[in-house]
Amino acid sequence: MPEKTFERTLVTSALPYANGYIHLGHIAGAYLPADIFVRYKRQKGEKVLYVGGSDEHGVPVTLTALREGITPKEVIDRYHTANAEAFKRLGISYDIYGRTSWPLHADTTQAFFTRLNDTGYIHEDEMELWYSEHLERFLPDRYVSGTCPKCGYTGANGDECESCGAQYSPHDLVSPRANIPGDDSSPVLRKSKHWFLDLPKFKDRLKAYLDSHPEWRANVRGIAYGWVEDLRSRCITRDTDWGVTIPLDDPEAEGKRIYVWFDAPIGYVTNTRQWGLDVKGDDAAWEPWWKDEATRLIHFIGKDNVPFHAIIFPAVLAGQDGFVLADNVVGNEYLNIFNRKTGKEEKGSKSKGNMISVKWMLEHFAPDIIRYYLCANAPESRDAAFDWDDLLKRYNGEICDVVGNFIHRSLTMTVKNFDGQVPEAGNLDEEDRALLDYLPTQIDAIGGALEDFRFRLALERVIDLGRRANVYFDARQPWVTRKTDLARTGSTLYACCQVVHALCHVLAPFTPDAARTLSAILGIHLPEGGPDGGVDGWNAGKNLLSPGAPLRKPTVLFPKLDKDRIAELAEAHQRGEAF
Ligand code: MF3
Ligand code: ZN
Repeated sequence: MPEKTFERTLVTSALPYANGYIHLGHIAGAYLPADIFVRYKRQKGEKVLYVGGSDEHGVPVTLTALREGITPKEVIDRYHTANAEAFKRLGISYDIYGRTSWPLHADTTQAFFTRLNDTGYIHEDEMELWYSEHLERFLPDRYVSGTCPKCGYTGANGDECESCGAQYSPHDLVSPRANIPGDDSSPVLRKSKHWFLDLPKFKDRLKAYLDSHPEWRANVRGIAYGWVEDLRSRCITRDTDWGVTIPLDDPEAEGKRIYVWFDAPIGYVTNTRQWGLDVKGDDAAWEPWWKDEATRLIHFIGKDNVPFHAIIFPAVLAGQDGFVLADNVVGNEYLNIFNRKTGKEEKGSKSKGNMISVKWMLEHFAPDIIRYYLCANAPESRDAAFDWDDLLKRYNGEICDVVGNFIHRSLTMTVKNFDGQVPEAGNLDEEDRALLDYLPTQIDAIGGALEDFRFRLALERVIDLGRRANVYFDARQPWVTRKTDLARTGSTLYACCQVVHALCHVLAPFTPDAARTLSAILGIHLPEGGPDGGVDGWNAGKNLLSPGAPLRKPTVLFPKLDKDRIAELAEAHQRGEAF
């Protein structure tokens, strides 16, 4: 099959619930990899749009509101604002960060629902659901809790167990109890009318879709194939008043809303529409991004979101008119937490108090440090663990000692001995040329890993570039030749300046702040395209700085982390203060 050629790339990151603060696990899974990819594509001058936002519906939001005695709107405003700010400070460079509570989103969601309904993909059915006679209302999802019929966990939800992952029908829940402030009565089962998405009707199309993507990560394919073999109709409405209203002329639909997992991924479309209005002032600007075959849609998500992005949302899109389906679903594993007391890795959880919020982390670390460690230790093909000693070791030992140190000693020596300018190349020998020839090859190797969504590998290759350059520097000993042979020293530092220039380009997607500072020192401009594309500033990393080009005095790009300070923070984390 000839490779498909794409004109533009639409990248999405899962919309986090506006019901809590985002934490490092989120970043490592769905946000940092997407941001690195998008920054790389922008740098290449390709047309790329990066869409994100808050997922603001769902029962957890109303539960929080009830528990705190505030309105759902106050809940989502608090977390939307905080999370948008945290993303921004970490440099997650969305083109738009939207909200599913926007009126425009109700419009998009209802249009999707109506189309599926009109074309026979939605049917209605009666369900037996838990009902509180005390409050005279149904108890959707987490409004009821009980004992899991599969594993016996006593905090199980109405239709799902968080402990073992089992899904069951509500009447299989053992010893159900209402789980809301003011009500812990025993609920009764009562009939309620709901609307279902007929997933089995999409089976052949979904199968062909998965078959056409053998290049997806094994973890994503595994989960998706598991689902496609066992498709069932899924209820896409709930007994709640918080969500998108159901666009049906049916009195029974009035007290109900569209289920959060139906509307949330449609938020990607809404937010693209809003971007078109805000940035282009054009209510049709979003369409090519979703409806042109030449658009490459890529979803970045955590593993738990795979069924929704590889099966259900593609079915919803396939049921529309002319929407593209994702060309890739990049699903990451989990970032666990290393517990220093027990010496074991454990899942991050609110009850254990071991999670680290982005907000807290940013109070103590520059964004580049967080980005470096979470990418170097990304849970790509298997789970990884956040570990303070490992953070210290890798950040100090790799990016500081290898890359930062090379850049610093090369530039310091050049500025001092060559009048703040890139030296003449002079007589380059074999060793110099080998280093210079290696640069474009390594830039391609880094780009290739990024194209393959292998972010850890790409970053390792950046470090390798620094390692190789340090070996060269040590072998050539410019600090020695400086006293005896200034021409030789010039050639050496000329080559080193070219490495620094290449490093500046390849660091940009990973550690954008350091790259920006470095570009100012080198007096170069790192071009950044966007939705309209631009010039190729990635391959410009292969160009050479001209002799005589002025250099500014270098500053430390990657300041070392202090061991004692890390130990203090690790202890604060251990005390549960990091969230
Ligand atoms: N809010 C969901 C979660 O955090 C993710 C929603 S992704 C979307 O698991 F596509 F549905 F928006
Ligand atoms: Zn269970």
